[in-house]
Amino acid sequence: MAVAGSGHENWSSRSAFILAAVGSAVGLGNMWRFPAEAGENGGGAFVLFYIFCVLLIGLPVLLSEILVGRHGQANAPESVRRLARDSNAPEGWSVLASLGVFAAFLILSFYCVVGGWVLYYVGVFLGDLFQTGLTGGAFEGRAAEDIEGLLPGMFGDGALMVGLNLGFLAVTMFFVARGIASGIEWVAVYLMPVFFVLFLGITIYGAFTGNFGQAVSYLFTFDFSKLTGEVMLAAVGQAFFSLSLGVAGMMTYGAYANRDTNLAETSGIIAGADTAVAMLAGLAIFPIVFAAGLSASAGPGLMFQSLPIAFQAMPFGSLIGLAFFIMVFFAALTSSVSLLEAPTAYVFEKFGISRVAATLIVGLGAAILGILSALSFNELAEFRPLAFIPIFAEANFFDALDGVTAKLFMPIGAILTCIFVGWVADAKLIDEENGLDGVLHQTWRALVRYVCPLALAAIMLVGLFG
Ligand code: TRP
Repeated sequence: MAVAGSGHENWSSRSAFILAAVGSAVGLGNMWRFPAEAGENGGGAFVLFYIFCVLLIGLPVLLSEILVGRHGQANAPESVRRLARDSNAPEGWSVLASLGVFAAFLILSFYCVVGGWVLYYVGVFLGDLFQTGLTGGAFEGRAAEDIEGLLPGMFGDGALMVGLNLGFLAVTMFFVARGIASGIEWVAVYLMPVFFVLFLGITIYGAFTGNFGQAVSYLFTFDFSKLTGEVMLAAVGQAFFSLSLGVAGMMTYGAYANRDTNLAETSGIIAGADTAVAMLAGLAIFPIVFAAGLSASAGPGLMFQSLPIAFQAMPFGSLIGLAFFIMVFFAALTSSVSLLEAPTAYVFEKFGISRVAATLIVGLGAAILGILSALSFNELAEFRPLAFIPIFAEANFFDALDGVTAKLFMPIGAILTCIFVGWVADAKLIDEENGLDGVLHQTWRALVRYVCPLALAAIMLVGLFG
């Protein structure tokens, strides 16, 4: 339904908004990045601190972003500008969201590269299902090195890497070009339920066929001696990435929310669902990996290398592997549409062009940047674009974009959002939006004004210079 005068669409219902926002949050961050980060950072200590970050920093920032969007009913920079104007504050605050829109575009460009890998593994397991048949394990008769070698094999084929990247981006563009109701909402409403069914099925399968006990004690045994500064930084970065924060994505979705949606409640549901999926993803992946006697600290290779090897030894391995990667594909797609929507909404509202034209322009830009990321693992492996910055000295193009967005854009965007919402914007306007009263309201306000910006600044400085 269009809102009179603003020419912009709204979610068709509260549940559509929740599904779309949960779809944005739940993605490769949960299925791929969370288990990898937990495994590389020692398990339990990371997980506990992660949950702490979600509650104390992620949730208050999430509510702040959504309410700015809903107040403004426009693309993210315009929404910030309107709230600033209504608060008699300088409209220049909109720059916080302009940075965010730009960062979302950067993230989109390399997110689609990983989305492409997921597509490749869908193909691999589909082919294997025909070869191995339904009941046996995956990759019958093939050596573990062979299965592990699928990833470097794919990396080595530049044309394949670019093709996969563009394929995933094209699917994303297709749905964003169709708009809110018949594109983004459609993806969320149809794919997220399928995702949840497959996801629960695989978690239960992992619990029965894998080493569930070891996974539980690995993920939830809190050893405080392992909680170093580096682990804390990794946890807060992961919390932000997973909740889609700091880069205007949730502001953009908030702008399509109806006036009668309770934003505090909705934020709680989004953060709760996202965190539950991350925990369950750990409980789906680690039992399978442990049962195969593989290491938890395989990092990014966990999903693309360890898991396929583990499926070899499991009943219905090809089928489960196929279901697993289809499920990850759905989760990734509902996230990539949100990354594309933020810059697209900005471009078509700002320049007064059609949604389709804006999608094509932003998508073309992401395609060009994405090619550099897609080739970072072989052809451009020696290209170190940020070699002059010590912490990025070793980073290839892909890692540099990942690092700059997660370590600079996201925390800076979130700090500015907190200052804007907590200190600059008119408190009465904020109160009308947030759906909180009493103690909860005061707690949220204190978190946004003091705790979040200070904690984020401290963590960012430690991460960059410590
Ligand atoms: N949260 C998504 C994931 O976990 C990724 C994502 C979507 C994102 N939109 C975002 C990350 C906006 C940062 C900002 O996969």
